[in-house]
Amino acid sequence: MTLYRATFMHTPESPFTAPDALQVQEDGGLLVEDGRILASGPYAEVRANSPRAEVVDLRGGVLLPGFIDTHVHYPQVRVLGGLGMQLLEWLDKNTLPEEARLSDPTYARAVAREFLSALASNGTTTALVFGSHYASAMEVFFEEATRTGLRVVAGQVVSDRLLRPELHTTPERAYTEGKALIERWHGVGRALYAVTPRFALSASEALLDACGALMREFPDVRFTSHINENPREVQTVLELFPGARDYLDPYEQAGLVTHRSVLAHNVHPTDRELGVMAAHRCSAAHCPCSNSALGSGLFPLRRHLQAGVHVALGTDVGGGTGFSMLKEGLQAYFMQQLLGTAGVPLGPAHLLYLSTRAGAQALDLGDLTGDFGVGKAFDAVCLRPPEGTTLDTVLNHADSPERMLADLFTLGTQQDVAQVWVGGDPVYRRVPAGQEVGV
Ligand code: GUN
Ligand code: ZN
Repeated sequence: MTLYRATFMHTPESPFTAPDALQVQEDGGLLVEDGRILASGPYAEVRANSPRAEVVDLRGGVLLPGFIDTHVHYPQVRVLGGLGMQLLEWLDKNTLPEEARLSDPTYARAVAREFLSALASNGTTTALVFGSHYASAMEVFFEEATRTGLRVVAGQVVSDRLLRPELHTTPERAYTEGKALIERWHGVGRALYAVTPRFALSASEALLDACGALMREFPDVRFTSHINENPREVQTVLELFPGARDYLDPYEQAGLVTHRSVLAHNVHPTDRELGVMAAHRCSAAHCPCSNSALGSGLFPLRRHLQAGVHVALGTDVGGGTGFSMLKEGLQAYFMQQLLGTAGVPLGPAHLLYLSTRAGAQALDLGDLTGDFGVGKAFDAVCLRPPEGTTLDTVLNHADSPERMLADLFTLGTQQDVAQVWVGGDPVYRRVPAGQEVGV
C-alpha cells in the first residue's frame, strides 16, 4: 500500500451543473493499493488508519487527476508548427504526405514513441487517439502504448476517397483489418479500440456502413471521427451526400452516433445535430488550439450545454499546437471570453473538469478514471514548477486553491510536470535539475 501525501484537487461532479464541484484537499492523503484508490481525505486521518503504508511525500506540488485528451492524432507529431493554412489545404500540403510515411513500420514506431512520450511528459494519462491509415502502423502503436502503460483508446483510420490513393482502403478491407485489430488489441492491458473513419468527406456510404458493422459486432468498442470543423469542409460533405440533412446524418444513418461516440470539433453545428447528439449521449471533443490555429471558428459551448451535449477537450495534435491540456484549457477559456455574451464564462474548476473527468465520461471510462474518488484508478499528475520560474512565484502568492488552479492553467507547461502515474504505475518522472544530459 502506498500513501500519496499532497495538496490534491479534482472535480468528481460537473461545475456546469454543481456549484461546488471543485474538491480540494490541502495536505491530503490518497491511499493506493493495486493501482486503485482505497481511501482519501486529510493526510493525518488517512495516515492514522493505515500506519504501515509507505508514504510518498509530494508536498510542494499540486496533484491533479491525469489529463484526458479526447482528440489527438498519433501520426501528426512531426507536422506540428505548420501554421498559415485552413483545414483542407493543411491536410493536403502538410499532413497527408506525412501520414503516408507511416506505411513503413520502422518509421511508424519512431513516431509512436515520440507521440506516447509527449503524452506522458505532458501529464496525459488517457487519450482517444486517431491512428494511422495503415494496419501495420496500428500494430506498432498498440505495442508501444502497451509498453508505456498509458490508457489509449485508438483505432485504424479509414478513408476511401479524396485523400491520396495510398491512404485509401475499401469497405471490405476496412472491416477485415478493423476486426483483426479489435480481436488482437481491444481490452488488452490498458488499450481499447475505436472505430475511426477519418471524416464523412473521405468516406463513402459503404465505408461508413462497414464501420457500423464493426460497431454492431463489437458493441463496447468506441467510435470517433470529425464533424463540422470548417465551413468549406461542411459544404463539401453536404455536396457528397446529397440526401443528407446535415453533416451528422451520414454518421447517424450508419449507426455510428452512440454513447461511446466522440465527434471532434463541431464548431458549426445545426440545432438538429445537437439534438441528435444529446439524444444518443454522443460527446463532442472541443479542440480550441486547433480551432484557432486552423481558423476554424469559435466553438459554441453554450449551445452544446443548452442542448445537453456532453463536451470534453482535445489537443488535436497536429492541427493543434501541442500536447499540453493546460494550454488547451486556457485556450478554451480565451475563446469563450471572445464570444462575449454568447460565450460561457469558464473558471478554473471548469477547465479542470473539461480536461479530466469530462474526458473520462466521454470515453465511457467514468467509473475507472478522471477523478480521485475511492475505487478509481490512481491516474495522476503532480505539477511542481521549477524554483524561480514565474509560475513558482505566482503560486507562492496564491491566496486560495481556486487561484492556484487558475495559475496552473494560465502559466503551466510541460516543464512543470514533475511525475505522472497510471493505475499506480509511474509512467513519467522529470529529470531533476542539474542531471539533464549534457549538464
Ligand atoms: N479532418 C479530417 N482529418 C483531419 C485531421 O487530421 N485534423 C483535423 N483537425 N481535422 C481533420
Ligand atoms: Zn483531428
